[in-house]
Amino acid sequence: MTLRLSADETGIDRAAELLRQGALVAFPTETVYGLGADATDPRAVAGIYAAKGRPSFNPLIAHVPSLNAAEELVLFDDIARRLAAAFWPGPMTLVLPLRDGAPVADLVTAGLPTLAVRVPGAPLVLRLLDRVGRPVAAPSANPSGRVSPTTADHVADGLGDRIDAILDGGPCPVGLESTILMPANGTLRLLRPGGLPEERVEETLGIAVSHEAPQGAPTAPGQLASHYAPQGRVRLNVTQPDIDEVLLGFGPVEAALNLSPTGDLTEAAARLFGHLQTLDRMGAPRIAVSPVPDEGLGRAINDRLRRAAAPR
Ligand code: TXA
Ligand code: MG
Repeated sequence: MTLRLSADETGIDRAAELLRQGALVAFPTETVYGLGADATDPRAVAGIYAAKGRPSFNPLIAHVPSLNAAEELVLFDDIARRLAAAFWPGPMTLVLPLRDGAPVADLVTAGLPTLAVRVPGAPLVLRLLDRVGRPVAAPSANPSGRVSPTTADHVADGLGDRIDAILDGGPCPVGLESTILMPANGTLRLLRPGGLPEERVEETLGIAVSHEAPQGAPTAPGQLASHYAPQGRVRLNVTQPDIDEVLLGFGPVEAALNLSPTGDLTEAAARLFGHLQTLDRMGAPRIAVSPVPDEGLGRAINDRLRRAAAPR
């Protein structure tokens, strides 16, 4: 049963407590409802992908209650700081370089060196984030491929029993996702149009917003190619590894590294990027990977493994 929480002190406290325990909680922002999980907890973040049925690991937005909290996660340049001062809290997300050692699970960035952050502009969600005291990763709270929800009933219709709780704050006033901007090297790129019109950004900052895709940087879903792809050659669906192959296992097999000895897809997703990184550090020239069932989270895991195995 998905718990329905009301937008009062008790409901907010309960939602914050659940998030801190690793649960999935949908909550309203001024744009759309988000499906939140503790961004520092890899298992909780893996649960988001499982609930949404996302076929790939697209990076998520980390929601924080203040600019100070954002500065603990990412590096702000001058343009980013001016944007934050002008438009936060509000329907704007900034993609910025991830700080070294920032307490954010790899699954949130999908292995990218940047992180999307936002301070949402509604009192309820700010109070919730304040009480969680950790960044909250949240995509829109809809099943993959469906429209973003703007009421608690939309969330319940789409995600039903796949999540732990819904904080019901009524309809979202903006109803459109946040505008995603990427400041870099003195320029400003629009990655997704949304609730904050780009004209307002241009007027306020006095600089042009570019629509060009950032050079070399994957930005849209599907473009995320070989981040965390190990240098070694990767062979998939292997039940009998060759003698010179390092096995990345799944299920009860003898392997150098195992995504989940018990065959738990959520655990496997939570460990995937870390294990790929470890294999890279080991410098293994040939890597074999156990079959991973192509269902639920397994589809996103296989998508990422296929990218890692693709010829480069
Ligand atoms: O209004 C919103 O932004 C809502 C509420 C819940 O905050 N969230 C939302 O999240 O729309 P989602 O996951 O549906 O869309 C986030 C977008 C994705 O298209 C993703 O590819 C992009 O942000 N994104 C996230 N991190 C990125 C990064 N490091 N670089 C480029 N794009 C990124
Ligand atoms: Mg979405």
